[in-house]
Amino acid sequence: MLGNLATVSYIGATILFILCLGGLSNQETARRGNLYGIIGMAIAVVATVFGPQVTSAGLPWIIGAMVLGGGIGLYAARVVQMTQMPELVALMHSMVGLAAMLVGYATFIDPAASAGMEGAEKAIHEMEMYIGILIGAITFSGSVIAFGKLSGKIGGKPVLLPGRHWMNLAGLLIIIYFGREFLHAETITAGMTPMIVMTIVSLLFGVHMVMAIGGADMPVVVSMLNSYSGWAAAATGFMLSNDLLIVTGALVGSSGAILSFIMCSAMNRHFISVIAGGFGSDGGTPAPAAGGSAQPAGEVSPILAAETAELLREAKNVIIVPGYGMAVAQAQHTVNEITQFLRGKGVNVRFGIHPVAGRMPGHMNVLLAEARVPYDIVFEMDELNEDFPATDVTMIIGANDIVNPAAQDDPTSPIAGMPVLEVWKAKTSIVMKRSMASGYAGVDNPLFYKDNNRMLFGDAKKMLDEVLVALKS
Ligand code: TAP
Repeated sequence: MLGNLATVSYIGATILFILCLGGLSNQETARRGNLYGIIGMAIAVVATVFGPQVTSAGLPWIIGAMVLGGGIGLYAARVVQMTQMPELVALMHSMVGLAAMLVGYATFIDPAASAGMEGAEKAIHEMEMYIGILIGAITFSGSVIAFGKLSGKIGGKPVLLPGRHWMNLAGLLIIIYFGREFLHAETITAGMTPMIVMTIVSLLFGVHMVMAIGGADMPVVVSMLNSYSGWAAAATGFMLSNDLLIVTGALVGSSGAILSFIMCSAMNRHFISVIAGGFGSDGGTPAPAAGGSAQPAGEVSPILAAETAELLREAKNVIIVPGYGMAVAQAQHTVNEITQFLRGKGVNVRFGIHPVAGRMPGHMNVLLAEARVPYDIVFEMDELNEDFPATDVTMIIGANDIVNPAAQDDPTSPIAGMPVLEVWKAKTSIVMKRSMASGYAGVDNPLFYKDNNRMLFGDAKKMLDEVLVALKS
């Protein structure tokens, strides 16, 4: 009876997770999608905890762990700044990887987990453990490094060891060899050495893979680790014979893989090259540290807030391109006020969103939605790129890499080939940032020196407040 109830709940939760993913694919339905996900997860947790697989002796432990973990999660979610979200997500992915590793080892050393298994059934069970720990270890160490890179604790510059592809290949062969040894091991003690060697190699592979990735390719890594965390969860589901975990893990794994693929297409990168590491740095100019001062490559023309307001007032078509700096400055509400004001005066204001603007997928969409910018004036890069020549003013708010013409003009640039918003084709472009510092990819931006470009130096929120005051005066 309890088992049937758990199965029905699992099916319900699975349907809700699918609806959740469907909802999250569009900003207008994202809130609803999120709600489906919350309800689905609540059902899944209750059905698992009170399901047939948990004994009454284990219940207090599980509830204790849930209260502790839930408390830490709640605290982290409350104190995290919006700009720290990507790091938090990377850290959470690492937890999924760690959990898969721990469950794998616990299953391995528990004789009851494989009691009565023989032949093919035993081999499949052992492969589940081996692969589960493998994926978990790569996800764990890779996500920890991604956390370090995204939080600035580790430099964004790719670390390219000589012969790195050969090292990866050697790692793969070692893992395959010890996998064979593991399957042939008769006892837990005999299987322990291959298991530990594979875990160490996988941990090193995760570190090596993410360390070798250049700044501009980090978005792909974030979504790829998201995908890995899903596969790690699915592997755990196989080990624990939990159907819901298998399905949920597969949903996260495959949607993360699709997102990674979309990201790669959006950035003109090859998926395999990115995961092999160091793509975008071969043969190109090495990128200096992100945020570093760029070499002055020309003269820039500064502009004042009042002059910016004047240009906006006279414009008929305005495109706003937000980037990471808007998130740092929390300028989205002022951006919305300016938008409303200009629209009230009959100006056609639209937003151009680059797929990797900010530090996580959909970062800008979330901020604009929070500020209640209407969805129908927010466009993807591809929908808007042809409209720049007919635009009077483009306002680039704390964006840098995503509007860098070097991606098109300079084949030696580390971001060469990455599609960008062609803001320089407008009559006037205005870049709002605090200094001449480079963006995440650490690349100089020739846009700043173009004749039709103006620089509005200062914190984006402060400068936009001044622009708004000037507009209203
Ligand atoms: P960036 O190229 O990083 O440029 C952001 C700019 O904002 C900086 O040049 C900075 O210049 C400025 N800024 C910072 N704080 C500011 C403030 N308070 N007020 C005004 N400006 C401020 O950002 P982007 O154009 O959005 O491009 C995103 C980059 O991040 C890409 O390279 C992408 O590959 C990478 N990335 C993206 C993701 C995802 S999934 N979206 C994940 C990881 C990495 P100043 O210091 O001079 O102010």
